[in-house]
Amino acid sequence: MKTIRFPTPDALFDHAAARIAAVAAEAVRARGRFVVALAGGATPRPLYQRLARAATVDWTAAHVFFSDERCVPADDPASNFGAAKASLLDRVGIPDGQVRRVAGERNPIDAADAYEVLVRDALGPEGRFDCVLLGLGADGHTASLFPRHQALTETDRWVLPVHVSTEPAWRVTLTLPPINAAHRVLFLAVGAAKANAVRALVERAPIPAAHVRPSGGECTLLVDTEAATLLDA
Ligand code: 6PG
Repeated sequence: MKTIRFPTPDALFDHAAARIAAVAAEAVRARGRFVVALAGGATPRPLYQRLARAATVDWTAAHVFFSDERCVPADDPASNFGAAKASLLDRVGIPDGQVRRVAGERNPIDAADAYEVLVRDALGPEGRFDCVLLGLGADGHTASLFPRHQALTETDRWVLPVHVSTEPAWRVTLTLPPINAAHRVLFLAVGAAKANAVRALVERAPIPAAHVRPSGGECTLLVDTEAATLLDA
């Protein structure tokens, strides 16, 4: 995994937006479309705002999924889809049917089953996203793959419902197989609160995020100075 440090969050998000625009253009050239799984949480929102202004992305060729989702309605403030919709999806012209959200208002088990069908239908048997965006929790979780959770060892299902101790308690997450099949994985970590998790990830300590190792793809960690505090100079 390659780690790139940035002096400020703005510098990180500027780079991330340019990198994703380049990945999208390459995917469209190579495969005729750009299939991306967006990260949840608060960190990526400035990135999505930048992507909404990126003139070089052909959004008509984009197919948007989510790395995970909280089991809440789309208009709930906790919804990852709702956040991406406001900061990006409503601002760019993605054709109907090319944004696939998790039906967070449904029963988690049914929502996960239905999402797996959408992912498999779109990706086919290879299951390769062009890009999976991931955040990093202070405890080392990523997507909704939390420490000591059985979803971490799943090898068959591509999407699972998970119950966690923090609210919203039910979530739906991509599992490691589709994440690790991706052409590119991009971690985003900003702020001092992530410094321990960033060090653990870089040192491959036994945290959930350290299980992300795309076998045939590129994995990159973007960190700002605060999140990189505990890394060797
Ligand atoms: C979610 C995310 C989760 C997130 C991390 C970091 O739905 O919350 O998918 O994995 O990326 O918890 O969250 P912040 O970016 O808000 O710190």
